[in-house]
Amino acid sequence: MRMGVDYYPEHWDRSMWEEDAKLMQETGVSLIRVAEFAWSRLEPTEGNYDFTWLDDAIDTFATHGIHVVIGTPTCTPPNWLVNAYPDVLPQDEKLHPRYPGIRGHRCYNSPSMRHYSALIVERLALHYANNPAVIGWQTDNEFSLNECNCEHCNSRFRMWLQDKYDSIESINAAWGTVVWSGEYSDWSQITTPLGGTNHKNPSYVLDYKRFETDSVVEFQQLQLNILRKHCPNHFVTHNIWSYPMSLDYYKLCENLDFVSLDYYPSTSPEKAESSGYSGALTLDLARGIKRQNFWIMETISGPPGCWMPMWRTPHPGFIRAFAWQSIARGADTLVHFRWRSAPSGAEQFWHGLIDHSNVPGRRFEEYRGLCDEVRKLAPLLEGTEVQGEVAILHSHDQYNAFQIQHQVEGMDYFDNLKTIHRAFTKLGIMTDVLNETDDLSGYKLIVAPSLFLLDPEIASRLETCVKNGATLVLMPRTGVKNQNNVCWTQPLPGPLSNAAGVTVAEYDPIGRDVHNIRWQNKAYSCSQWCDILSPKGAEAVAWYEDDFFAGETAATVHKFGEGKVYYLGTVPEEAFYLDFLRDVADNSGLHFIPDLPEGIQISTRVKGSTRYLFLMNLTRKQQTMLLDGTFRSLLGSREIGPTLTMAPYAVEIVELPQKNV
Ligand code: GAL
Ligand code: ZN
Repeated sequence: MRMGVDYYPEHWDRSMWEEDAKLMQETGVSLIRVAEFAWSRLEPTEGNYDFTWLDDAIDTFATHGIHVVIGTPTCTPPNWLVNAYPDVLPQDEKLHPRYPGIRGHRCYNSPSMRHYSALIVERLALHYANNPAVIGWQTDNEFSLNECNCEHCNSRFRMWLQDKYDSIESINAAWGTVVWSGEYSDWSQITTPLGGTNHKNPSYVLDYKRFETDSVVEFQQLQLNILRKHCPNHFVTHNIWSYPMSLDYYKLCENLDFVSLDYYPSTSPEKAESSGYSGALTLDLARGIKRQNFWIMETISGPPGCWMPMWRTPHPGFIRAFAWQSIARGADTLVHFRWRSAPSGAEQFWHGLIDHSNVPGRRFEEYRGLCDEVRKLAPLLEGTEVQGEVAILHSHDQYNAFQIQHQVEGMDYFDNLKTIHRAFTKLGIMTDVLNETDDLSGYKLIVAPSLFLLDPEIASRLETCVKNGATLVLMPRTGVKNQNNVCWTQPLPGPLSNAAGVTVAEYDPIGRDVHNIRWQNKAYSCSQWCDILSPKGAEAVAWYEDDFFAGETAATVHKFGEGKVYYLGTVPEEAFYLDFLRDVADNSGLHFIPDLPEGIQISTRVKGSTRYLFLMNLTRKQQTMLLDGTFRSLLGSREIGPTLTMAPYAVEIVELPQKNV
């Protein structure tokens, strides 16, 4: 467990390196990430590699005990490359080149891009394989899909389809192209989406998204092969941007050693609390990608600005509290973005730990304190892991399918997932947010927000979990389509109807209209969607109160094998989730905290029978909560509890003697 910073030696006069390295060492920084945008300095003209400056920088920092992660610079192809090989630039739907002059301006399928990327990565790998200060690599920077329409993307898309479908007949059948005379008679008729209407065949668009992910994965794999070959002792990671995301992170990270996340919680006072909750989800998602601890490769150090007008500066305690939140949810190393604010370039006002003035101030002192704390606790936390009790299922395919076809005003796959996750966080229940294709054995409770595309194999895996005793919670828009994004022609929830013991007789997409349901004699509002349910063995547990379907069933529960399946036919307000999930958790034997104050988050890291509990007040308000006894605070070496008053952004970490708070 260590602390690092993102450092750009090429942005500073060499005379500053030594001072920076000294201050880092004094502060407790033992790691820098470098070079991920430095192609024009590493290869100033074609074939003229110059790593001497990076060697000198690495040596300077190594002298101060600082290790280095090198980012491959392929996110920023230099001007000479773009000029000489225009296929490097992605093309928009009118086939105009896109993005020259900033970053991310590269087509993943461009032969020149692939060729020159491989060359520079190989040079770097060979050069730094045996440098004792270098410990690992970051591929590129924050990959995302770029919807390129160039000739190379077009021909590779066709190859990808040929590989998947073999014949033009099977593609016509899989996509149902018969509608609107969309049948293909020759592969050459299939192109990338090339603009036009938003109402293209959804099967085609979803496959195009999958192809785009595979293009990124292939582009990264070229680099990985080189790095694995020449640097067998180094790790390779990638810094993912946040969620929701079209690019399939599960595929992207499959061959990496671990996931790194760039995490920027909102500093605005109005948003800070909700951003603490969505941040918790982001951290759980990152941990779920490889089902292991991860790194934070970038995180907030000062007021962010550039892509938007500047946000508020992090309130005192904010940098520290969100750093501990990251560790509490599975981060093993924190790299702060960035050491010092950039004097030039577009991101001048995305502030670092040190301002342009080069005078370390309040934020820096907070960071210094954080480094001390992490150093002190690292030996205890080393090797501990987060073990969620509940599995929430997530999928980039589902997200993309809902993006392609917005079901109704106000319905958003990811927002709905957020609401459920937030309810668990408010109940103090740790969740693992996993790929829907993951093995889910061992979870007592599984929540599956809208399995819109439902693979019968996933359905049968879920059935098995339930038969073996798990409780499964299903939501509307489940079992609507197959993996080709074509509707199942059977009653909803399609392949899960049997396990759910219910079918949908009719539905009303109510969008932003607000209706009510009654559950356990209490009314709750709902919106977006109303499935009118007809139980087939399941028991009705909630009813609609409005409209022509007043009195009809809104939610059911069905005993199935040793477990049960809840089907929620509508999207209720958060208050419902809090009551309902608390009830379900209780019945599933899960421990929850009945009155955790708003904005306080708790989580545990575990190793064998040793458990550390983290408590964080991620708000600007003082909060009070009750603990199950008194504990010694590992941060302050004092006794805390049973009544614990937490100042704004306060953090406490305690060792739990046995299985209760
Ligand atoms: C990340 C990116 C960094 C920097 C930071 C602040 O998305 O990887 O290079 O731009 O955001 O905007
Ligand atoms: Zn392209």
